Amino acid sequence: MGTIISIASGKGGVGKSVIASNLALQFSRQGQKVVLVDLDIGGANLHILFGNLSPSPTLSDFLERQTDSLDAVVHTIPWAEGLGYIPGTGNTLGGGNLLHSKKLRLLRHLKNLDADIVILDCAPGTNYHTLDFFLAADFYVTVATPDPTSVIEVYRFIKLAAIRKAMTHLSIRLHGEIRQSLVNQEFSNIQDVLEAFAPTNEVQKNEALAILNTFYPYFILNRANTNSKFSTSSLQQVLLKFLGTELVVLGEIPQDDVVTHSIRNYLPVIDWAPTTPASTALIQTFYALQQRVLTQSPHRSPSTEILQQPIKN
Ligand SMILES: Nc1ncnc2c1ncn2[C@@H]1O[C@H](COP(=O)(O)OP(=O)(O)OP(=O)(O)O)[C@@H](O)[C@H]1O
Ligand SMILES: [Mg+2]
Repeated sequence: MGTIISIASGKGGVGKSVIASNLALQFSRQGQKVVLVDLDIGGANLHILFGNLSPSPTLSDFLERQTDSLDAVVHTIPWAEGLGYIPGTGNTLGGGNLLHSKKLRLLRHLKNLDADIVILDCAPGTNYHTLDFFLAADFYVTVATPDPTSVIEVYRFIKLAAIRKAMTHLSIRLHGEIRQSLVNQEFSNIQDVLEAFAPTNEVQKNEALAILNTFYPYFILNRANTNSKFSTSSLQQVLLKFLGTELVVLGEIPQDDVVTHSIRNYLPVIDWAPTTPASTALIQTFYALQQRVLTQSPHRSPSTEILQQPIKN
């Protein structure tokens, strides 16, 4: 069973796949067996970063039970020993059409992949499937660019992930109407969630708080530039104030045209141009992540076990 790292952003196009592929390559260079999984099935493009324009088989084959093994849809990369990826072309995972049983099967198989490190390249958006895959990991990584829309979306993503984590965990103890109303209710912030628990059971409220206190998402700022007014510390302060969430910054990757050039050459930038600013920052970010993976206990939520109980929302 490998260590699972999820990468998500809320907003699309901010560099999740670029970051995921470079971190994955660096883990494999350290002798780890790595599998990179494209969970953005509808808008899948991870395979293109490795020069595979029409991959087969894909994650869809596993979901449609063309194969019983998730390992069977892992593609190896001839020039990168120990690095494999699962392409995600096919139907969308994000829509309501992903059956609960299919999701559980995928989550179970992700945890049992033949790998030391599994990196989940999550779909953009805040669909609850995306939140569940994100939360199924041992370590959570979020990504944003300094653009205000990207920052707002990543804040929204982290907020909804925190709420989802508390709701999912506590749902095993709740029954009937209370459970249904908590699951279906719209929450605007974490205080709302806690207040929703308070009238029923103060213990539940404290449990929710306890779960939230163990929610430590990591953050990578991508396409950073000196002209931007955005500061990572302001995002940290807002998250701490409104959610009690401590956001750990892993690194800042500068805006660097060499990233686009490397994509056009179907190579991760740390391989294509190792000494450029983007590559140097990606390697530094990798070491910050690796240090935490090696020394900190996983953030794994009890999602797989909890999700055994269907949640209607
Ligand atoms: N640090 C960077 N400097 C310059 N350009 C970058 C940088 N990071 C990413 N890009 C550009 O942004 C584009 C989008 O990156 P990427 O595909 O990784 O985003 P994504 O978040 O995975 O998108 P999606 O949500 O669609 O999956 C890349 O094709 C690349 O051109
Ligand atoms: Mg992507």
